[in-house]
Amino acid sequence: MSETSCLKIEFFSGEDVPLEMHKVRMVQRLSLPSIDSRLAAVAEAGNNTFLLRNRDVFLDMLTDSGVNAMSENQYAAMMIADDSYAGSETFYRLEATLKEMFGVKYFLPAHQGRACENILAAAFVTPGSTAIMNYHFTTTKAHILRMGGHIYEAFGPEALTSVSDNPFKGDMDLGRLAAKVAEVGPEKVSFVRLEAGTNLIGGQPVSLANMRRVSAFCREKKLLLVFDASLLADNLYFIKTREKDEMGRPLADIVREIGGLMDISYFSARKLGCARGGGLVMSGDALYHKLRPMVPLFEGFLTYGGMSVREMEALNVGLRETLDIHVISQTPIFVAALGRALTEKGVPVITPFGGLGCHIDAGRFVDHLPQDRYPAASLAAAVYLAGGIRGMERGTLSEQRNPDGTEQLAPMELVRLALPKRVFTLSQIKFVADRLAWLHSHRRLIGGLVFEEEPEILRFFFGRLRPDSDWQQKLAAQFRADMPSGF
Ligand code: F0G
Repeated sequence: MSETSCLKIEFFSGEDVPLEMHKVRMVQRLSLPSIDSRLAAVAEAGNNTFLLRNRDVFLDMLTDSGVNAMSENQYAAMMIADDSYAGSETFYRLEATLKEMFGVKYFLPAHQGRACENILAAAFVTPGSTAIMNYHFTTTKAHILRMGGHIYEAFGPEALTSVSDNPFKGDMDLGRLAAKVAEVGPEKVSFVRLEAGTNLIGGQPVSLANMRRVSAFCREKKLLLVFDASLLADNLYFIKTREKDEMGRPLADIVREIGGLMDISYFSARKLGCARGGGLVMSGDALYHKLRPMVPLFEGFLTYGGMSVREMEALNVGLRETLDIHVISQTPIFVAALGRALTEKGVPVITPFGGLGCHIDAGRFVDHLPQDRYPAASLAAAVYLAGGIRGMERGTLSEQRNPDGTEQLAPMELVRLALPKRVFTLSQIKFVADRLAWLHSHRRLIGGLVFEEEPEILRFFFGRLRPDSDWQQKLAAQFRADMPSGF
């Protein structure tokens, strides 16, 4: 069977079903706490879904980071890892895979994605310089700001439109990129960064055509082009299914072309390759020699970079499996299934459906809440109350305050319901859609949140908030009235 011969398996009934192309051979028992337990747990967690304990969660849709299901071949590979501080064969196996996949000369390991960002920021960001990107990610931005740099987002006109049929809302706007370079001067641009797909604007992909144009521009202007490949698996699926000129091409060809368009590609292996770790790949000798000393300094010796050898073996296999369309299709088709179910029930979601997870448009869901009451965080707390479902706030709470202390209001208020790869079943997706529909029908009961403890950096990770009224008690009372079992 060729890779392209069956991108999608159709049902005779015409129904659009996200068919699992794997079977489940190891399971984890889940429990659904009652509404009273959920009310207590959300308060204990300071209304921050990051602070919930897993034992209080039914469906953990916080993230796909490090929690994707691994394949039997990944587990098997972990058993043959070569344990040594320096010169491990495991490292050389992984290095060979990455060099072949991206068509590059060098690989530097790191313990996760943000560790690569730390290295990149330390190497290239100078005070007052600007990093231009299609969209920022929280940890990327924090590292750049920490080094005294600025960020500029050259996203396209539809990137922040919640309802759209633009298949590549993650594309960079070449006109805005060129204008910014002209404004600050190329010598003040630390690097241009493409994130594919985008995380904070709904997992929206970047087209290969756009990558080519951005690369050509950067080469002409002699700007360093950095590629965040953390979400590449979903993005590849969208290139294969939405970009007409690329549909017939093998995935391996596409990845090699991408590797060649970029000066440096880095990734979180908690996402790409379904393991835990990270790394940077490149071909330039000078770049490699500039970055290499930072790996032993921040991460660990050059042949492990903070990763365990077992994870490196799992990653090696996971990366190869990324070139199988039926492996990388699983998250996008489940995101679309959840997106369709929610849309049918009138719940506002970001369209087109992207990768990573289904993104609820909190801006519309709780349009009665002002942004300084953190509508997306309030909705995330309410989603947990409604079904023990743990999502993630991706809105104003995930921003950092401006230097003068005012809120940096996010252009989109989203609650992300992540779909870690091959973890959830269709009935669980139906449960999520059902509870969200219930919540939507009572959305006016949802109130805001205010900070009780607000950390200065990456406040969304461990900040604590409280409801601005007794709205959670009222919501729980409504739940008990509608669902007498209390579950
Ligand atoms: N870049 C992107 C696009 C990401 O999505 C992430 C992580 C990182 C970099 C940082 O990688 O976590 O390995 O240090 N995203 C996770 C998420 C945290 O939940 O979306 P990391």
